[in-house]
Amino acid sequence: MQYLLTGGYGCIGSWIVKNLIDDGHDVAIYDLVEHTARMALIMDEEQIARVRFIEGDIADGPRFIRVVGETGASRIIHLAGLQVPVCRTDPIKGATVNVIGTLNVFEAAKTHDDIVQRIVYASSAAVYGMEDDYDSGPVDNDAVLKPVTHYGVFKQCNEANARVYFLDHGISSIGLRPWTVYGPGRDFGLTSDPTKAVKAALLNRPYVIGYGGRNNMQYVNDTARTFIRCAEAETTGAGAYSIRGDVVTIDEVIASIERVVPGSEGLISHLDMNLPIAPDLDDRAIQEDVGEIPYTPLDDGIRETWDVFRRHQEAGTLSTDDLQG
Ligand SMILES: NC(=O)c1ccc[n+]([C@@H]2O[C@H](COP(=O)([O-])OP(=O)(O)OC[C@H]3O[C@@H](n4cnc5c(N)ncnc54)[C@H](O)[C@@H]3O)[C@@H](O)[C@H]2O)c1
Repeated sequence: MQYLLTGGYGCIGSWIVKNLIDDGHDVAIYDLVEHTARMALIMDEEQIARVRFIEGDIADGPRFIRVVGETGASRIIHLAGLQVPVCRTDPIKGATVNVIGTLNVFEAAKTHDDIVQRIVYASSAAVYGMEDDYDSGPVDNDAVLKPVTHYGVFKQCNEANARVYFLDHGISSIGLRPWTVYGPGRDFGLTSDPTKAVKAALLNRPYVIGYGGRNNMQYVNDTARTFIRCAEAETTGAGAYSIRGDVVTIDEVIASIERVVPGSEGLISHLDMNLPIAPDLDDRAIQEDVGEIPYTPLDDGIRETWDVFRRHQEAGTLSTDDLQG
């Protein structure tokens, strides 16, 4: 099966690629630059060499349409996007990449409707409002969306556009709404702090996680396999789904790191600010429509993360650039 991933060199993309290559699929990545450092954490050189890189900007619609035709990709996983801080400081650029870029993916599927069978795209839990915006208990998948960031509004817009492409052109898609994805390769963005804290603990360095409160922690390999499961699903329509890992406080994340990483007691602390997204999301809708979703308990995910970092530390290949500043 030919897969095309936009933004495939990011954290989630690297793990999707690893799983697809392990399963014998052909994978092409459409990204701004070839950047294999995250893949090198979890794949060997021979596996990385099997991935085809196609340089391009997702905001360049005509080029992406040509690329879809050239690759013959039946499944597109669309991950390319700018994160919260860039969308906040430069909303025009944010919308160009996150909204126009997503429209370009759907336009390519429309142009090549004889080739493309399914689009799975990264939405975000940031489409929801804050914890206080909802009744207590898990927030229903179809609860009112009240994003408080441009980033969340752009993701909401993408979900709505996906629905219109199904209504107007019959293009089936699934949008997934991750919360905090953690694990090897998560080295960028505010919610990369728990992963960086694991690395700091391994290196016996103090680290301050920049926020507190309750979080929804999703191990990256679970997230990656969920994207693939959705790409393989035979559902029609344009569903957008919450996904769920462990809903825990940052204090519980720190306690997990201390249980897993020997000698790390007292190294990790956190600030008190809460992230403005309801953490407790109900994932029954995706389970009902797509099936069981992979789940790794927090301690196991932290242990796997530590283990990957530890092996690279021993091999002298562990980058600590993400811990600077
Ligand atoms: N990581 C999380 O916790 C999380 C949570 C919610 C949603 N998401 C969404 O999931 C997706 C992937 O997340 P990630 O953590 O892997 O992101 P990432 O920042 O690690 O990777 C994003 C990738 O997109 C590429 N990219 C950026 N602009 C591009 C452009 N104009 N054209 C082509 N490629 C471009 C980057 O080069 C990078 O390889 C994003 O859309 C993100 O908004 C992630």
